[in-house]
Amino acid sequence: IDTLQVGELARKLRKETSEIIKKLMSLGIMATINQELDKDTIELVAAEYGVEVEEEILVDETVFETYEVEDEEKDLQVRPPVVTIMGHVDHGKTTLLDSIRNTKVTAGEAGGITQHIGAYQIEYNGKKISFLDTPGHAAFTTMRARGAQVTDITILVVAADDGVMPQTVEAINHAKAAEVPIIVAVNKMDKEAANPDRVMQELTEHGLVSEAWGGDTIFVNVSALKGEGIDDLLEMIQLVSEVEELKANPNRSAAGSVIEAQLDKGRGPVATLLVQNGTLNVGDSIVVGHTFGRVRAMVNDLGRRVKTAGPSTPVEITGLNDVPQAGDQFMVFTDEKKARQVGEARFNKHQEAMRKESSKLNLDDLFSQI
Ligand code: GTP
Ligand code: MG
Repeated sequence: IDTLQVGELARKLRKETSEIIKKLMSLGIMATINQELDKDTIELVAAEYGVEVEEEILVDETVFETYEVEDEEKDLQVRPPVVTIMGHVDHGKTTLLDSIRNTKVTAGEAGGITQHIGAYQIEYNGKKISFLDTPGHAAFTTMRARGAQVTDITILVVAADDGVMPQTVEAINHAKAAEVPIIVAVNKMDKEAANPDRVMQELTEHGLVSEAWGGDTIFVNVSALKGEGIDDLLEMIQLVSEVEELKANPNRSAAGSVIEAQLDKGRGPVATLLVQNGTLNVGDSIVVGHTFGRVRAMVNDLGRRVKTAGPSTPVEITGLNDVPQAGDQFMVFTDEKKARQVGEARFNKHQEAMRKESSKLNLDDLFSQI
């Protein structure tokens, strides 16, 4: 970073702009709020407040601040919900995701080769719903650990013949910690041994009381295997989604989170991004975690090339200089130079951290040899 405006510096130092202007005057510098300050001046002022200027940190904050730009109410539009599915091993998470996807792919898209990008979108009653199909717990723990909050609604799958199990409780705790609403899908209702009342009873002990019993948790009985109850479940997702009033501004540059990423032999770094605000376009200058580049190509969950992706849309992109991590945040810069500047600073910082990490490991190895 070479320069900062007076107002920006004030924000970073958490001071009033007027105070910074006064401070500058006391240092013999006459400045207005929009005046660009050079690095030396920034350091001088920061030192007055006992703050040491670290180049990368300033750059990092720049990213964060832009990401946090608030949209005006009038610019906000309803966006689709982003749903994750959680539950105990073998209770039917994957079968449910497959069942939803297979039955709800719109007619025009049938026969399209679906490809695994870690997330997909369906349409029900003319409205879209996005599903993350990364294993629910991993999605929650790794993504949240990295500061990403991508889930709007959690479907808690509980097998009706097995009831509440340790990972069911874990899932409830994750969702509660993230303050994400839970819809219970009581699965495997086709089974002889299915006992939905027992599931309700057991979940009551964990604070999830069915509406049928005077609580406010929605329970839906389904058979993921037979595709039964899926419509009810989707309707409930849309109901909760409406209550949550999920909104975003499609008419701004995009920001969001990485769902998954890997290195592809032919295409280079490939990342599935969830657009959480704004609209992502091919050709956009983008910073993704410690990586950056220009969006070369975008592919949707049906393997089709797309040019734009709006709020709550998962999309796979190429064009980055390195592989980002799940849970990393991304944002688009309208100024390509700035994207490069921020991207390079983050990239270098990451490389430095990796170097430190590996030299530490080597030292540890060395000591353990002695
Ligand atoms: P993990 O990913 O290992 O945690 O399991 P999962 O929760 O994804 O469960 P999965 O969908 O793999 O289902 C586990 C087993 O339960 C499979 O053999 C499914 O065929 C079966 N199964 C899932 N849903 C139903 C259902 O509605 N009825 C019946 N009878 N079997 C089901
Ligand atoms: Mg599974």
